[in-house]
Amino acid sequence: MFKQFDVIAIGGGPGGYIAAIRAAQLGFNVACIDEWKNSKGGPALGGTCTNVGCIPSKALLQSSENYDQAGHHFAEHGIEVKGLSLDVAKMLSRKDMVVKQNNDGIAYLFKKNKVTFFHGRGSFVAAKDGSYDIKVADASEEIISGKHIVVSTGSNARALPGTPFDEVNILSNEGALRLGAVPKKLGLIGSGVIGLEIGSVWRRLGAEVTVLEGLPTFLGAVDQQIAKEAHKAFVKQGLKIELGAKVGEIKSGKNGVSVAYVNAKGQAQTLEVDKLIVSIGRVANTIGLAPDAVGLKLDERGAIVVDGECRTNLPNVWAVGDVVRGPMLAHKAEEEGVAVAERIAGQHGHVNFNTIPWVIYTNPEIAWVGQTEEQLKAAGRAYKVGTFPFMANGRARAMGDTTGMVKMLADAATDEILGVHIVGPFASELISECVVAMEFRASSEDIARVCHAHPSLSESTKEAALAVEKRSLNF
Ligand code: FAD
Ligand code: NAI
Repeated sequence: MFKQFDVIAIGGGPGGYIAAIRAAQLGFNVACIDEWKNSKGGPALGGTCTNVGCIPSKALLQSSENYDQAGHHFAEHGIEVKGLSLDVAKMLSRKDMVVKQNNDGIAYLFKKNKVTFFHGRGSFVAAKDGSYDIKVADASEEIISGKHIVVSTGSNARALPGTPFDEVNILSNEGALRLGAVPKKLGLIGSGVIGLEIGSVWRRLGAEVTVLEGLPTFLGAVDQQIAKEAHKAFVKQGLKIELGAKVGEIKSGKNGVSVAYVNAKGQAQTLEVDKLIVSIGRVANTIGLAPDAVGLKLDERGAIVVDGECRTNLPNVWAVGDVVRGPMLAHKAEEEGVAVAERIAGQHGHVNFNTIPWVIYTNPEIAWVGQTEEQLKAAGRAYKVGTFPFMANGRARAMGDTTGMVKMLADAATDEILGVHIVGPFASELISECVVAMEFRASSEDIARVCHAHPSLSESTKEAALAVEKRSLNF
């Protein structure tokens, strides 16, 4: 039977599944095609984020943090742990269960919202009579047709040239999240978000971790005062980070991996490790989509070309998430998915790229929104700064977690908040208040005058806002 839909989302990650649900809520007849397979060959909705990204990494970050706390920090609270042991298999199966709960949750949401799900690969066939024919291929093939297509095919890990992932010794995020045992020595190429998060997991579980970063600056996109605080904390925890490393030949064999590199001083070095994770960024994925069949335009990096509203060069073909420009973040993909569904319905659709928060879920966590001090300087913008250390926050002291600070940047003339940068406990949660404030174009004085619960970490945000006017009360 030939199936005709108003909207078809190709890809069931955060961009596609959210676009599908929102379009269904708006009254459209919607399908979503996703090819991800679980270990039994069945569907596993949620894309990279749910299967090999946000969710499993946070599950393992939590488990490894618990282990680290029990091993190293419970004693400070007078809690003695004897015979602490690690069951990696159990930790991984818990992670798999969390992933499955999320896969099942999305399948349930599709039923609830009457989104028709197709398991298989979706490819463009042809534009016909104001619609697009899409082939869905798995064990069998069928053609479905949609008036509007939302391409949300995500991204894949970037490999080093000449060093493909084998997921045994040379690992992408996929292999790195399912290592069956703690490697004695673990190497990482790239000290970006994945390198720091996954490196933290295995370091906490006992691996000796060395990160080789190509750039001379640590976390170059992060406000450098915050990045320096984080760097100090990571080094103290035992993470070895080599900046300015030029990676050369990589040899992988039975005994592990050897990485030849030239360090920042120009000296030739070799890093010998049991496993190597390569986390040097991700590339847009259009494998199997057959964009040429309909003339869908890609840029030189392989990303789908879109305008500010996620419109491609083809009428009624939209693209969202990692497969287009902009930060590769699940919540950015979701926002674009919602906005596209609303635009299809003739509504306004809104994504504010200036207020997309970033979080790195290490310990300490790093979170920010808006512009860094370096960006403001480069733009010649006059600004004021307020900082407040968690060391001076009562809740942080009670928790025994006083690393880091909140830093607020505000316009020198209008006091509008231009950026907030946090390194420290629950930065991931604290940043939301700042995102809301910036979305409403609040001033630092607005935050400074809002009553914050005591004792809470959020008082540090208020204090940083007070510090903008040099009137901190507790520091
Ligand atoms: P994806 O999630 O990649 O989904 C694309 C889907 O489309 C996949 O299921 C794929 O199989 C399917 N597909 C592709 N081509 C086809 C086709 N032709 N037919 C059918 N199906 C197809 N972001 C955060 O915001 N917070 C985090 O904490 C975070 N942690 C991360 C940790 C790791 C280790 C990684 C790798 C990424 C992390 N990210 C995080 C990034 C986040 O996962 C991505 O930004 C997000 O998944 C992008 O969503 P998407 O819908 O664009 O694509
Ligand atoms: P990344 O872009 O965050 O970091 C890559 C790092 O590798 C950079 O520091 C870069 O300078 C370095 N690099 C690049 N080529 C190199 C080379 N040849 N040798 C040495 N170093 C090299 O990319 P990453 O960590 O792979 O993550 C990809 C994306 O996934 C992130 O940008 C982010 O969008 C998303 N993500 C988000 C998370 C979150 O929100 N918490 C968690 C994990 C991933």
